[in-house]
Amino acid sequence: MPVRLATAADLPAIGSLLVELCRDPVAHCIHSWSGEASVENAAALAQVYGEQELTYVVEESADGLVGAFGCELDHDLGRGWFHGPHARSDWDAVADSLHAALREALPPSITEFNAFLNVENARGGAFYERHGFTEQPMRHHEYLLSGDAASAPAVRPFLEALSRPSFFELFDALFPNAYYGHERLLEMQGKSLEIFVTLVGDQVVGFCVPYRAADARRGEIQFLGVHEDLRRTGLGGDLLAAGITWLRGVGASEILLNVADAGTGARRLYEQVGFELQHTGVGFKLVGRPDPESSDT
Ligand SMILES: CC(C)(COP(=O)(O)OP(=O)(O)OC[C@H]1O[C@@H](n2cnc3c(N)ncnc32)[C@H](O)[C@@H]1OP(=O)(O)O)[C@@H](O)C(=O)NCCC(=O)NCCS
Repeated sequence: MPVRLATAADLPAIGSLLVELCRDPVAHCIHSWSGEASVENAAALAQVYGEQELTYVVEESADGLVGAFGCELDHDLGRGWFHGPHARSDWDAVADSLHAALREALPPSITEFNAFLNVENARGGAFYERHGFTEQPMRHHEYLLSGDAASAPAVRPFLEALSRPSFFELFDALFPNAYYGHERLLEMQGKSLEIFVTLVGDQVVGFCVPYRAADARRGEIQFLGVHEDLRRTGLGGDLLAAGITWLRGVGASEILLNVADAGTGARRLYEQVGFELQHTGVGFKLVGRPDPESSDT
């Protein structure tokens, strides 16, 4: 069956396919889907595609899409985050032919790849290992806070130019592999995300970065961190409240977040606030280009 590069016109069908297949934890790729409805998922794909940060390949039959495999790209960081592979049937063969096509379509500037699967998706994990990826030791847990998007008192975001160096110093120390670079964070600030900080003098000692998804009913707490000398004094809870308040204020009724195994303190904090565990994910990583020799046989 033919495999081809997807265009914007394919995104609604891809969005539906991803939702249909990912509902089953054994086929769930977390980069592809985290609980949205089909229309919302397609809108999220369209937004990233419009920013030229998404490449998808599809395989189709006379009845429609048989499979899809994509990669979200950050050209500045040279990093890619895989979506999939997704296949309705004949999984290994479809996944391998999609992989071969996607590999050809990826810009050469992308040299580090990540995939993030539901821990129950053993078939996907085996696929990535077969293609040279290394399973990451840390598990990640996705939490959801549901509730009314009732308007809440405004909390002022605060990141002055003066505070930026100390913000980035703390941010890099706590999130050394963040998927956003400094410039990207500042570009998005005031639009799709906000940066709330706690200051001691002009030094940032804590921050919370909430993000509003393309579908404004959904938001995420993307980064929350407090300087280690000042933990357990209530700063993290206050920053989290500021992030949630901002997301509620922009209409988010569902708030997601992701936390690593190591963040046991953070998990306790989130659970206290009412976040509920949705699923646990496992990451796979490849540094270098996808290797045609190690694959597709
Ligand atoms: C998670 C983090 C932001 C919490 O910040 P904090 O300022 O220490 O949080 P708070 O003081 O507001 O803690 C509120 C409650 O959360 C729970 N909690 C926080 N850290 C905890 C820990 N290490 N162990 C157990 N419970 C913890 C406690 O119930 C605490 O209340 P208590 O101190 O009265 O018992 C901070 O530990 C941190 O920066 N960690 C590294 C980055 C990270 O993992 N971020 C989360 C992933 S996005």
